[in-house]
Amino acid sequence: MQSIRTVSIIGTGSYVPEKVLTNHDLEKIVDTTDEWIHSRTGMRERHIASPDQATSDLGTEAAKVALIDAGIDAEELDLIIVATLSPDMFFPSTACFVQDKIGAKNAFCYDLGAACSGFLFALDAAKNQIACGAVKTALVIGAEKMSTFIDWKDRGTCILFGDGAGAAVLQAGGEGRGIMQSVMGSDGSLADLLWTPGGGSRNPISHEMIDQGMQYLKMKGRDVFKYAVNRMTESVIQALEKNEVSVDEIKCFIPHQANIRIIDAIAKRLNIADRIYTNVEKYANTSSAALAMALDEAAKDGTLKKGDLVAMTVFGGGFTWGANVLEWSKS
Ligand code: ACO
Repeated sequence: MQSIRTVSIIGTGSYVPEKVLTNHDLEKIVDTTDEWIHSRTGMRERHIASPDQATSDLGTEAAKVALIDAGIDAEELDLIIVATLSPDMFFPSTACFVQDKIGAKNAFCYDLGAACSGFLFALDAAKNQIACGAVKTALVIGAEKMSTFIDWKDRGTCILFGDGAGAAVLQAGGEGRGIMQSVMGSDGSLADLLWTPGGGSRNPISHEMIDQGMQYLKMKGRDVFKYAVNRMTESVIQALEKNEVSVDEIKCFIPHQANIRIIDAIAKRLNIADRIYTNVEKYANTSSAALAMALDEAAKDGTLKKGDLVAMTVFGGGFTWGANVLEWSKS
């Protein structure tokens, strides 16, 4: 098997559901204000999926846009990975549902669980499978319907999240360095700082579990904040070193869109405030979809230009975190 070194993103796409939930709407649901939410998080609004939309429906819409952008047919896909923490069902995988909906009958499909870090982890997995020659073309999706397991009575968490999906098509070849080496890490000893404890095999579905609200996302916000800033900053530095790229060479930094204060703290530490990409104001935190949606938006609004070096970084439940660097090769 021939070793292929360069793997490039040849198309991106994203999708958000129609319904917009503003901070003012949230004022009517919980004891909060637009001013509190915006000053603490940078968020103004988020999109919420309709009851008949599942995560695979969001992912499918993003995938269709990415395939058109890439100029390829779904049947050309060899692999589909969906990063999600809100799958349609425990099984089969959300990726299999997407495969069926887009008609990618030649692809093998699986989901990847790394919470908010999922898209970067999935990008790395797909890239390596292409780089070693195992597959030629892959579709990587980050998709979430966060609204289904948010406790809409908890003002500390319900204001933070939104629904959406982003997708990227990867292929062997392309000009420049393409997707470079990633740095990724995890620390399972901190799992209880950000998790949804109920509904799985540890705390199976029962009336008691539901009465205790264990089916909802739980978070110790201040701890998450501290770790998120430290881990994302460190992993960007490590990824730059690993790929022998200096901070000055990076044209655009795309961090996980968790909270504007987390993003600002990273920007300050790395001295990159003039090059950091954010859209958290419009979509809030869409977990594994956030990086994918931001990448697509940066590509489409002209921020990314051919030949630009881009650094991306993520942090999420687990804890999980990571960063990578890529050379943008689309015009
Ligand atoms: N509206 C009004 N007041 C609120 C709200 C709200 N929505 N939520 C909390 N408060 C109150 C609290 O009850 C508390 O009141 P008290 O002092 O009377 O007890 C006060 O505001 C301060 O609460 P804190 O939780 O300490 O507020 P903080 O400034 O830390 O902001 C926040 C909370 C926004 C959650 C912050 O900790 C944060 O951003 N953490 C990071 C979490 C994150 O981004 N998670 C995303 C998932 S992880 C990921 O994607 C990487």
